[in-house]
Amino acid sequence: MRVAIIGTGYVGLTTGVCLGFIGHSVSCLDTDYSKIAALRAGEIPIYEPNLSDLLEEARPNLRFTSSYAEAIPDAEVVFIAVGTPPTPSGAPNLEYLSQAARCIGQHMNGDFTVVVNKSTVPIGSGNWVDSLLRESYEQRHGTKSADFAVASNPEFLREGSALHDSLYPDRIVIGADESRALELLYSLYRPILDQTFNAPTYLPRPDWVSAIPLVSTDLASAELIKYAANAFLALKISFINEIGLLAERVGANISEVARGIGLDSRIGSRFLNAGIGWGGSCFGKDTAALVATAGEYGLSMPIVEAARKINCRQRDRVVEKLLHELKILKGRTIGILGLAFKPNTDDLREAPSVEIVQKLVDRGVRVKVHDPIALDRFQREHGAMSVQSCKTVEEVVEGCDALVLVTEWNEYRDLDWETLAAKMRCPVVLDGRHALDREKLTRAGYQYLTLA
Ligand code: UDX
Repeated sequence: MRVAIIGTGYVGLTTGVCLGFIGHSVSCLDTDYSKIAALRAGEIPIYEPNLSDLLEEARPNLRFTSSYAEAIPDAEVVFIAVGTPPTPSGAPNLEYLSQAARCIGQHMNGDFTVVVNKSTVPIGSGNWVDSLLRESYEQRHGTKSADFAVASNPEFLREGSALHDSLYPDRIVIGADESRALELLYSLYRPILDQTFNAPTYLPRPDWVSAIPLVSTDLASAELIKYAANAFLALKISFINEIGLLAERVGANISEVARGIGLDSRIGSRFLNAGIGWGGSCFGKDTAALVATAGEYGLSMPIVEAARKINCRQRDRVVEKLLHELKILKGRTIGILGLAFKPNTDDLREAPSVEIVQKLVDRGVRVKVHDPIALDRFQREHGAMSVQSCKTVEEVVEGCDALVLVTEWNEYRDLDWETLAAKMRCPVVLDGRHALDREKLTRAGYQYLTLA
């Protein structure tokens, strides 16, 4: 099928590459020409494992362009995957979305087209996009009526494992109020639903994957599914962090508690890793949007609001723990291990590290930071914070009064902790992710701390 994808960020690019890989003819469009030039030259503007390999395999089916006139007229399915960044009020900024919808409307050629919202958009956006498309189509083509349908196809991919999540998803959700649109999307995803594509060697098909469940529903339900899924995952994390606080007081081990409850298949063991809490572009923004949408209908969402509060509190608890341990923070040197909001990405959006670093700097701490991938981005985006960027962990630990593990990159688990201890002024480690081996670190002479 002929597909156009508007936006080459994490979601758009991953979707485009995966659809190209399974055999569709895909035009990836971005109005940022430098991104398009880079992609044409084989450079990937984001860090995502295996993306460049899959892009090379899919390349015969991919085109990169900045021109709507090139991408839209022939496309049977158009995905909108532009950014919807949060505004200070918490509501998403829909400027890029409306711009994309207008440009698509102007360039649709009159044959039936499905326009799919892939960006996380407020509930009800489908209808709004529909009206923008219709208006701009009519402006361009006069009275001739447009033949299109708007659909929602929320993505559930996690950064760092985006390709795996796209090729082997737990489910695919499509929502539209017109059956023609649902049929077209079903055909588009058929190779993934039936798992008929040849798995790449570097992304082997997991044993448990056979057919993928399809949830084919109406527009509003698909839009709400996305928010409800992210809110539920976010509150699962906040729940374990709330229990973690009590576990600490009563002398229980939160990892054991998480294991003990997670083995109940009704609960499930994933997303019960206690610690600093969630960051990233989705959970914060989506929970805020959910609360805001409910407010528009005169409803409150106390569970979701509590999950948000608990998540904020976890960042404060990092500072409280350090204060309790070191007694005085002013003038201390503290090392931060991991800046990205989670491992295997260079994404710093709503990364807990940024807030924690700022809180420490505000208290007069000299902060040294390290990240295997996100260090350059941190310097570019947060260079104004006066911290020392270190290329190696050895450089970070030198003269430190404490280390905080903020992002659980694998390489931090296997460090030569004994040798590093000797370089620190005071071997204190606050393991914000329950990622390190408590016994090993204690044996190596560390004061090993966790948030729970
Ligand atoms: C999330 C959703 O998982 C995905 O389905 C959605 O479409 C986009 O948002 P992502 O933000 O990429 O994906 O990362 P995810 O793996 O969900 O982690 C989010 C945050 O929660 C990270 O900061 C992570 O460190 C934290 N987390 C996750 C925990 O603190 N504890 C856990 O047990 C799991």
